[in-house]
Amino acid sequence: MNTKIEAKTAFEWDVLEGFSKYPRSIPSKYFYDEKGNRLFQKIMELPEYYLTRSEFEILVNQKKEIIQSWGLSNEPFNLAELGAGDGHKTKLLLEELLKQKFEFTYYPIDISQHILDVLEASCRENFPQIRISPKATDYFEALEYLSSHDTHLTVTLFLGSNIGNFHFDEAVAFMKQYASVSKSGDLMLLGVDLKKDPQVILPAYNDAKGVTAEFNLNLLDRMNRELGADFKRENWSHYPIYDPQTGEAASYLLSLAEQEVYIDSLDLCISFEKYECIHTEISKKYSIKEIMRLAEGAGLTVLEIFRDDEQYFASIILEVK
Ligand code: AVJ
Repeated sequence: MNTKIEAKTAFEWDVLEGFSKYPRSIPSKYFYDEKGNRLFQKIMELPEYYLTRSEFEILVNQKKEIIQSWGLSNEPFNLAELGAGDGHKTKLLLEELLKQKFEFTYYPIDISQHILDVLEASCRENFPQIRISPKATDYFEALEYLSSHDTHLTVTLFLGSNIGNFHFDEAVAFMKQYASVSKSGDLMLLGVDLKKDPQVILPAYNDAKGVTAEFNLNLLDRMNRELGADFKRENWSHYPIYDPQTGEAASYLLSLAEQEVYIDSLDLCISFEKYECIHTEISKKYSIKEIMRLAEGAGLTVLEIFRDDEQYFASIILEVK
């Protein structure tokens, strides 16, 4: 390790922290730079990546029942969305809500202003009548603002199994925090990937075309680009695993040689042993029992669970007590 360490950006800080401990890791949120966003779009179209299709199927086939389960009155309500995503799945719900003449304001929440701008433009084009108010802030800050500034019911969308990036205890803490910034009676539509045949899960993180490998390795390129690091791509490979007991798919970057890497902006030199790895992501899968425990641990009520035909994915309706 080195001396002149001046961490400035959050990325620098997190890389410094992740490389200062053992085993080494980098938070998965750093996948999503411009190139990473493009690669994730490609992942969602892969034959192996069933998650997007399964959740889409639930929304296409059961959107009416899902909206009905919210038990909305004629009062206007807030529709918040954590992580604006690609908007594909959300559009199905927006369309149905407009068709049924519900009065609502759509609040997509994302830390990326750019992503929100794109989403807002496409929303205004597809649904000119929609009331949309993007919030480029922290999830909980935005929800707290909604709770304290108006009395309307808030339905929060948290789709795509994004909750899977947390270990179970972290997911409970996240949902607790959600509950604490919400009003009693507020609702969440939570998309969760379910435990299933490991032979179906693993290929979703190890596709034949190597797009997921590219997505993982892009982290090295991003450190090279943004932190002036000198990672050599050919010295690394993408290594995913799935543990059927914890339900955690994990991705690693595996060092294929004994090597030294220099990170200029941190003035930090790190040596990696051959076959040492950097942990980059977990994607946790749930059983229905674990979903119940998650809700219970966070003080939320499970109102209903919708699943696709293959039972690959669940859309869960939660209520704040
Ligand atoms: C966007 C976090 C749900 O974990 O399945 C896809 C990200 N990583 N392929 C997931 C991801 C590798 C994805 N989430």
